[in-house]
Amino acid sequence: MAKDPVRVLVTGAAGQIGYALVPLIARGAMLGPDQPVILHMLDIVPAAESLNGVKMELVDAAFPLLKGVLATTDVVEACTGVNIAVMVGGFPRKEGMERKDVMSKNVSIYKSQASALEKHAATNCKVLVVANPANTNALILKEFAPSIPEKNITCLTRLDHNRALGQISERLNIHVSNLRNAIIWGNHSSTQYPDVSHATVTTQDGEKPVHELVADEGWLRGDFITTVQQRGAAIIKARKFSSALSAASSACDHIRDWVLGTPQGTWVSMGVYSDGSYDVPAGLIYSFPVTCVNGEWCIVQGLQIDEFSRKKLDATAEELTEEKALAYSCLA
Ligand code: NAD
Ligand code: LMR
Repeated sequence: MAKDPVRVLVTGAAGQIGYALVPLIARGAMLGPDQPVILHMLDIVPAAESLNGVKMELVDAAFPLLKGVLATTDVVEACTGVNIAVMVGGFPRKEGMERKDVMSKNVSIYKSQASALEKHAATNCKVLVVANPANTNALILKEFAPSIPEKNITCLTRLDHNRALGQISERLNIHVSNLRNAIIWGNHSSTQYPDVSHATVTTQDGEKPVHELVADEGWLRGDFITTVQQRGAAIIKARKFSSALSAASSACDHIRDWVLGTPQGTWVSMGVYSDGSYDVPAGLIYSFPVTCVNGEWCIVQGLQIDEFSRKKLDATAEELTEEKALAYSCLA
């Protein structure tokens, strides 16, 4: 029997990521090849004509799974009845800026859209914040939508996770599908800590630790980390626009694994509400390794944290604490 359609909201749908993301959702890359979807696309009035053009293209593409498209500039209409909300709307940083430099413009959007989601989304709506500063926007959305369970509000660090896998696969000249269990700790910013100390490679002789195969701790603790931390800036420098296709694809990975589950023995990175695990202060949206089962994420527990990692986990937590204070001062 055909499944009932799932309503998926994409805010900022007329933008770069939106344009890359909506066809992926309509093709089943987010919720599976047998899951019909109804797309709700929101943008602001100056982008209304362009948004309508995206809707026309979705109709023209005749996607079998796409059962309806709503294109609107009305936030209440956009949020009504949605089961998944992918919050991309906002302003991207430009060359030379840090992601938190777009804070004052973007957090106020997240405060106001929190209420619309809280009042009008479907019960148990799952929220993914993509717009930067992603962790702090998600935290503001959570704080101003107190009736949405905190476990339903997340931010995107899967792009950083995938970047980490991509760097290791290039270094070892292996396919990325043979690699698993990288971790992004903390903020989606240049203080994030990409950590492959628990990551493994599937080889003909079984599972091998990444650090054993790379055999270069200097690179793993140096250039590898900074390359992943700075990858967003490198893409802005090269493209003059921020990453879009990789961000859209990673947003699909994030929701797919959350809803359909992570493969056995594999964890992924998600920005989630900290419960104090790994001595990260509670009350931040912080990226942790998680596994997902039956639509619920769970932080992987018991990983060994050495002194080098401890400092990195603490530094990115400190930045998030500062961002939280800055966000509140922007909203005051
Ligand atoms: P973009 O400028 O191309 O598109 C953003 C869209 O949001 C525009 O169409 C704009 O009109 C719309 N918008 C602005 N205010 C809005 C509002 N109040 N409601 C609804 N829509 C609104 O930018 P982009 O390249 O698509 O990037 C979007 C965001 O995602 C940026 O903040 C960017 O920094 C961030 N980003 C995050 C990640 C990540 O991994 N977390 C990766 C890439 C980009
Ligand atoms: C990215 O990581 O590509 C995005 O967050 C865009 C940016 O500003 O770096």
